[in-house]
Amino acid sequence: MVEFAIHVRDFNEWRARNAPRGLWYRALPMVDPGSLGTVQQTLLIPLWARAEWSRRFAAFQDPHSERLVESLQYDFEEVRKRIGTFGMLNLGYRSVRMDRIARDFLKRHPGATIVNLGCGLDTLYERIDDGQAHVVNVDMPDTVALRNRLLPPSDRSVAIGASILEDDWKAALPPGPVLVLLAGVSMYLTRAQIHKLLRGLVGLRSTVEVAVDVMAPRTIRASNFLMGFSRLPQAPLSFGAAGAQDLMEAIPGGRLIQSDYLLSGLGKGLGLPWQTRSLAQWGCRLFPERLYQIALPQEKRL
Ligand SMILES: C[S@@+](CC[C@H](N)C(=O)[O-])C[C@H]1O[C@@H](n2cnc3c(N)ncnc32)[C@H](O)[C@@H]1O
Repeated sequence: MVEFAIHVRDFNEWRARNAPRGLWYRALPMVDPGSLGTVQQTLLIPLWARAEWSRRFAAFQDPHSERLVESLQYDFEEVRKRIGTFGMLNLGYRSVRMDRIARDFLKRHPGATIVNLGCGLDTLYERIDDGQAHVVNVDMPDTVALRNRLLPPSDRSVAIGASILEDDWKAALPPGPVLVLLAGVSMYLTRAQIHKLLRGLVGLRSTVEVAVDVMAPRTIRASNFLMGFSRLPQAPLSFGAAGAQDLMEAIPGGRLIQSDYLLSGLGKGLGLPWQTRSLAQWGCRLFPERLYQIALPQEKRL
C-alpha cells in the first residue's frame, strides 16, 4: 500500500478561505497526489476540467470536483495553462456525455450498477445518484487509496484497487444489469488489452452495456508527439481506432447503440462564443475522438 504525504499546511488560512462551504468541507486536509504512478496522475486533468465546468456552466454541477481540486496539493494553474479552453471543454464534456448515458441506463434499469473502470477521482456517483443506483469504481491500488480518503465509500458506491485488466473486481458487482464506463482510459491500453477486456465482459450479466471514448490513430500520434513538450502528467498513448469495427470485431453479436464524435452537440445551451464552438467542431474532425455505446451479446460467440 502506497503511503501518501498529508500536509496540513497553513491549515487555518486554508480553512478560513473555504469557510462558507460547510464543516465537512473544511475538515479535509491537503493531500499530495505526487506519489501516484505516472498513468494514475493523468486523473488530475479531467478532475480539473470537471471543476472548471462546474464553476462556469450551470448545466453541469459538480461541487465535489471543485472541492477535490482545492484540497489537492497540485499546481492546477499549470494544467489551466497547458490544457487551455479547448482541452477543458473536451474533457468536461466527456463527463457530461457519460453522465447522460448512465442516467439513461438507470432509467431503463432502475437500481442497476454502473462500473467506472479507471475511475480516477471521478465523482460520477455524486452526480448521477438517483437514490437506488450502485456504482463500482475500479482503479490502481494507489489511486483507490487516495480516492477513499477524499471520497469515502458508501452503501451503494465502492472503490476497488485493482487492475481493470484482471478479473478480481468482477466479484464485487451486485446482481442485475451493468453499464461499464471507460472514460479517458482506452488510449492507455493496447489493442489486445482492450479486446480482451471487452470479451471478458460478455456474459457477465444478462444485460451489459459499455460506453467508451476512443481516439483515432492520428489523434494518438499527435498526442504522443505533443506530450514531449508538456510538463503535465502524461503516459504514452497506445490504442486508437479507425472506426467502430476496431472494437466490434472483438465482440461478435454486439450491438452499437451510438457512435459519434465525443464533442457532438458541444456548445448547445452553454452560452459559448461561436468562435469556441467552431474551434471545437473543427478540432474534433481534425483530431477525432469518438464515443461508442455498445450492448454486449449475452453469450460469447466465436
Ligand atoms: C485520464 S485518467 C481518467 C480518470 C477518470 N476516468 C476520469 O474521467 O476522471 C485515466 C485513469 O485510468 C486509470 N488506469 C489506466 N490503466 C489502468 C489499469 N490497467 N487498471 C486500472 N486503472 C487504470 C489510471 O490510473 C487513471 O486513473
